[in-house]
Amino acid sequence: PVARLTDLPALRAQVGAWRVAEESVALVPTMGALHEGHLMLVRQARRSCARVVVSIFVNPTQFAPTEDFAQYPRDTERDLALLAQEGADAAYLPDVSTMYPPGFATTVSVAGLTDVLCGPLRPGHFAGVATVVTKLLLQALPNRALFGEKDYQQLQVIRRFVRDLDIPVVIEGVPTVREEDGLALSSRNQYLSAEERAVAPRLHAVLTRVAEAVRDGSETAPALAEGRASLDAAGFGPVQYLSVNDAESLAPLERVDGPARVLAAAYLGRTRLIDNIAV
Ligand code: PAJ
Repeated sequence: PVARLTDLPALRAQVGAWRVAEESVALVPTMGALHEGHLMLVRQARRSCARVVVSIFVNPTQFAPTEDFAQYPRDTERDLALLAQEGADAAYLPDVSTMYPPGFATTVSVAGLTDVLCGPLRPGHFAGVATVVTKLLLQALPNRALFGEKDYQQLQVIRRFVRDLDIPVVIEGVPTVREEDGLALSSRNQYLSAEERAVAPRLHAVLTRVAEAVRDGSETAPALAEGRASLDAAGFGPVQYLSVNDAESLAPLERVDGPARVLAAAYLGRTRLIDNIAV
């Protein structure tokens, strides 16, 4: 069974007991509505650590007032059943007042990496993520924490502040889990209508085509223009960005000359989809 930890003293007592027993601890932060992508992180965590804690917290500070915080899917009992099946040891389910007690006034914000891609489109989002992940890491003090490459900019932001703040944890990135047709698994895929669901895999197809076109170092602009046109034609709109960026600094690239990533964010109806692949 999965231990159900709802406050910080309970989390600290559980992790403390494991530490005394010299068992390594992995943390998998999530916002719940768990799918195979999340469960892959749990499986990967179990390979390297004796104990796995999964946090489930829909973090209000990373949603803008216009975004889907209230509608975000929540099903804790289902999530706990899935975690039990996967052999996770504990679920940490803090409430908002545990994470943000009255008077809370501190923010972790990462410069540079958040000036591109989703950063300008979602003001405050990455500060919300960085702040909550910092708190989760300091609350659980895991040996290792795992994050999906699905949210590639988020992963780079987390790597950056963990280094900058000397947080003693190993950050592990896990490749994106996809449906058979290429669509990256996401809790937000539930929002798609049947028609939209049929179109959604085009996003991955376009990323793949762009990656192939720019791999040899040719100019990225023509491939990106063509990719945008096919997304528009498929019914995406607006396409917020389609871009080739340095895999680490996330600086936009006119030509690929080292590790790079193709990244996109696009609306399909009212649902915002993001995805990325390695070049
Ligand atoms: P959430 O969207 O629930 O995702 C939790 C973790 O699962 C993230 O590390 C995310 O990258 C990973 N993930 C999501 N879909 C995936 C997929 N298809 N394949 C592999 N990994 C996938 O990301 C968040 O929550 C939050 O921002 C959080 C980090 C928990 C902070 O609030």
